[in-house]
Amino acid sequence: MRVIIVKNYEEMSKEAGKLVKELIIKKSNCILGLATGSTPIGLYKELIRMHKEEGLDFSKVITFNLDEYYGLSGDHPQSYRYFMDTNLFNEINIKKENTHVPDGKIPIDEIEEYCKKYEEMIKNLGGIDLQILGIGGDGHIGFNEPGSSIYSRTRLVALDEQTIKDNSRFFEKIEDVPKFALTMGVGTILEAREIILLANGSKKAEVVAKAIEGPITSQITASALQLHPKVTVILDEEASSHLRRKEYYKFAYEAEKKINFRIF
Ligand code: PGA
Repeated sequence: MRVIIVKNYEEMSKEAGKLVKELIIKKSNCILGLATGSTPIGLYKELIRMHKEEGLDFSKVITFNLDEYYGLSGDHPQSYRYFMDTNLFNEINIKKENTHVPDGKIPIDEIEEYCKKYEEMIKNLGGIDLQILGIGGDGHIGFNEPGSSIYSRTRLVALDEQTIKDNSRFFEKIEDVPKFALTMGVGTILEAREIILLANGSKKAEVVAKAIEGPITSQITASALQLHPKVTVILDEEASSHLRRKEYYKFAYEAEKKINFRIF
């Protein structure tokens, strides 16, 4: 695992932006796995800036989002489809038909088939090259709440009480937060060729330390990332404050810069 610790949210977003840009330049038709939430907004702003100022070309890029609230249609302002359109897709030259967000309105009796198809689509297009992740207060990646199997696949899940509380800030009242979601599984996420996990702020410090340095457990689904060979964790100072091996991560990152080679 590469752990990069930077000063603040802006630097975290820029650092992630560099990695995404590098991939798009190397592989113009790459497949990106995308996340929603407050964490990646700065990264998306940076990608928009790179598109507008540096001509970063998204015309062949394909995207798959991790998750969607079950019950919300894509035009609902709190849906993740709406989030992606307004925070990224509408501002870059990506083809809308190349962007995929799970459909939160799929009838209950079609969910299983739909989730299977979502995974098949990823596979048939060649698999995700780079997956962007945030981490929930309960350690989730996607909406894989504590208890989700490390082998879990795309499916319907019930949201954890903490997630509902955390996400209620986007809704008028807590009762409006959907109780269910469709999410890629931990197993699905681990199949990406490369993964970036982003976290900022002191509120995430404890769970970040558990995910990176604690035991691999389905109780903190982000800890499953320890099983993946190519993960870069980018943290701001605050989110890194509970890490025991912080000084080592800083040393290793400085060292790899000198030889211009990524050490995972
Ligand atoms: P946040 O959410 O970026 O809004 O903190 C992260 C997550 O729940 O994955």
